Amino acid sequence: MMTFFSRNYDRLMGPLENKIIRSFRERLLRTVKGNVLEIGSGTGLNFSCYREADQVVAIEPNRVMREKSMIRAEQASVPIEVVGAGAEKLPFEDQTFDAVVGTLVLCTIPDPESALLEMKRVCKTGGTLVFLEHVRMNHALWGRLQDWLTPAWSRVCDGCHLNRNAVDMIQKAGFRIVTVEKKYKGLVVVIHAEK
Ligand SMILES: C[S@@+](CC[C@H](N)C(=O)[O-])C[C@H]1O[C@@H](n2cnc3c(N)ncnc32)[C@H](O)[C@@H]1O
Repeated sequence: MMTFFSRNYDRLMGPLENKIIRSFRERLLRTVKGNVLEIGSGTGLNFSCYREADQVVAIEPNRVMREKSMIRAEQASVPIEVVGAGAEKLPFEDQTFDAVVGTLVLCTIPDPESALLEMKRVCKTGGTLVFLEHVRMNHALWGRLQDWLTPAWSRVCDGCHLNRNAVDMIQKAGFRIVTVEKKYKGLVVVIHAEK
């Protein structure tokens, strides 16, 4: 898919990335260990944040973003392989990964429930799930505004939903939530879960 959003993702995200998201990525990923699966890795903005992973397999269905991410994969300090696949049908054996990582991605995956079941299948028992997501706020006015904005937002931003509840979805898929850190009045959440 060659959309305006995917071609210009880094530029569009730039100010937010530098001010806020970059530090979240670094804090979230520097201690992730073992054989790691990253879901919907986009242009590879997470790749330089891995420090302790043995290797990272990153799946990204969008060809334009995947190609951009290849340069970042080569520059990373751990080995990173980028695979063209969607999260709803992961091309990996059961119990392959020690950790599954996603940033700003459960908002966009067309069928997040199926995707999370797939993540559970490929994650080892006792393995970890680490997510940074923007979610629907638990506030009458702001939550409804997010519902209202989502159809238009989704068309412009390649299917991104402003009003999903990532914590609920992860729990419903059968992961055990370990911690949920809420930021910006609950607009952003950092989730650690376990299989
Ligand atoms: C907002 S971008 C986030 C990209 C990256 N994770 C980041 O933090 O910058 C959402 C990403 O989800 C990807 N995506 C869309 N559908 C997907 C699917 N079915 N499975 C996995 N990733 C998907 C998009 O291609 C895009 O890279």
